[in-house]
Amino acid sequence: MHYAQVQAFGQAPQYLEGPDLPAPTGNQIRLKVLAAAVHRLVQMRANGQHFSATSAPLDPSSDGVAVDESTGQAYYVGTFAAPLFAEYANVDKARLVPIPEGKDPVTVAALANPVSSSWMALKTRIEEPPKYFSVLILGVTGTSGRTAVHVARKFNAGTIIGAGRKEAALQALVKEGLIDKYLVLDDMLGAATTALGHVDVILDYVYGKVAETVLNNLQPGATKTQYVNIGTIAQDESITLNAQTLRSKNLAMSGSAPGAYTLAAAGKELPAIVDMAASLPKPADVVPYQLSEVARVWDTDEARKKRLVLLPGKL
Ligand SMILES: NC(=O)c1ccc[n+]([C@@H]2O[C@H](COP(=O)([O-])OP(=O)(O)OC[C@H]3O[C@@H](n4cnc5c(N)ncnc54)[C@H](OP(=O)(O)O)[C@@H]3O)[C@@H](O)[C@H]2O)c1
Repeated sequence: MHYAQVQAFGQAPQYLEGPDLPAPTGNQIRLKVLAAAVHRLVQMRANGQHFSATSAPLDPSSDGVAVDESTGQAYYVGTFAAPLFAEYANVDKARLVPIPEGKDPVTVAALANPVSSSWMALKTRIEEPPKYFSVLILGVTGTSGRTAVHVARKFNAGTIIGAGRKEAALQALVKEGLIDKYLVLDDMLGAATTALGHVDVILDYVYGKVAETVLNNLQPGATKTQYVNIGTIAQDESITLNAQTLRSKNLAMSGSAPGAYTLAAAGKELPAIVDMAASLPKPADVVPYQLSEVARVWDTDEARKKRLVLLPGKL
């Protein structure tokens, strides 16, 4: 069987050939892997920067789409259920969500993890927000941030404010009707946040100085702002939070990832998350490659700017 692994953390995965898998156990099923996306999580695992990556050689994949060749039924394979940079996987049946016929495996593989990021935040990490709540998405131009726009609408958000570094990209999101307003992540962010007034929910994929600036410039008031950290795309894991900020705002803070919610809670939401991922259009920046090309395409400008999806076999 062909598979791919990083031989040492920080190196690109190598495409290798090895023995076939053992027979699946009683609660497992043998599936042919169709698509596994290279999320930020997967890159972190390959670099040894994620708690789930303890030693190499390692298959850094997280989740993906695979098919039962005997029935033709395709499934979403949950996070860390099985190594998926491989032609075949033996997967615990409890970790599978059937995908309706005709749905694109590449889109589901690319979007289930990004959808889950905002879905779990809004479902499990905040108190019921006001009807037609306002939400500020920090990092809205990334895959997860753009997906969060659709998820927020599904949760009945009213006003969606997107924040990102590139004004043209933000203007395009307004033009498409996806967001209502935008903030540019620049030196004027503090003033822009103050001018924005109250927001009910903040979904933060950026963290660092951006989070610090936004939190310090929130409006005091009777209505709570619920802040949820989801990512650290700014690669700055720490912020300084003035005690004055906590005392002078009506602020609730939390984070969202496994650990902040239970695996059982994530499992409960998974069918709805997969359904949403399958219903979204394939993002323009999703680029599929054969798994055999992994070493060549892994550490490229395209891989840094876009979302690679690796295909171990023919779709
Ligand atoms: N907790 C969870 O469940 C969960 C799930 C998925 C992802 N995440 C995390 O969420 C974050 C975003 O993930 P993603 O999938 O959206 O990644 P992504 O598709 O790579 O998007 C990141 C975007 O952030 C922007 N960006 C890069 N550096 C930035 C900076 N210094 N300041 C502001 N914006 C910056 C870039 O957009 P521009 O070039 O247009 O500015 C980039 O497209 C990552 O930290 C990821 O690990 C968490």
